Amino acid sequence: YRILVLNGPNLNMLGVREPAVYGSATLQQIITDLTEQAAAKSVELTHLQSNAEHELVTAIQQSLGQQDYILINPGAFTHTSIAIRDALLAVAIPFIEVHLSNVHARESFRRHSYLSDIAKGVICGLGAKGYHYALDAAVAELQTTKQ
Ligand code: DQA
Repeated sequence: YRILVLNGPNLNMLGVREPAVYGSATLQQIITDLTEQAAAKSVELTHLQSNAEHELVTAIQQSLGQQDYILINPGAFTHTSIAIRDALLAVAIPFIEVHLSNVHARESFRRHSYLSDIAKGVICGLGAKGYHYALDAAVAELQTTKQ
């Protein structure tokens, strides 16, 4: 299976950025571990982090026919981006929304997501492990739905 992992703005700052909220692991560490987990399941993992909305939109568009599943932590674009929502609807690739922090236990503006209602599932508040749980769930679903 082919799985695309997308991380939005400021997630390149993990490890430095508010460690009490987001943990001490860097994005590089998270992606290295995730790639290892993926390889053990014969999953080809592609990762992109971008601070730019249009780059995420383009990556989603280019996934059409190239990726079987998307794991996305859209960062602050979660709460603002109709464009990312529309791109995910356009390609109709199943996706899981991941957040390191529990967005429901923070400022009220983080409670609304432009993606959650069209996601297969949402994982939040479980730190970096959330990406691993999402990968597990994606592979399990692909095994039952796709040859
Ligand atoms: C985040 C939560 C968002 O509200 C925030 O803007 C982020 C990170 C998370 O992983 O907890 O940048 O998506």
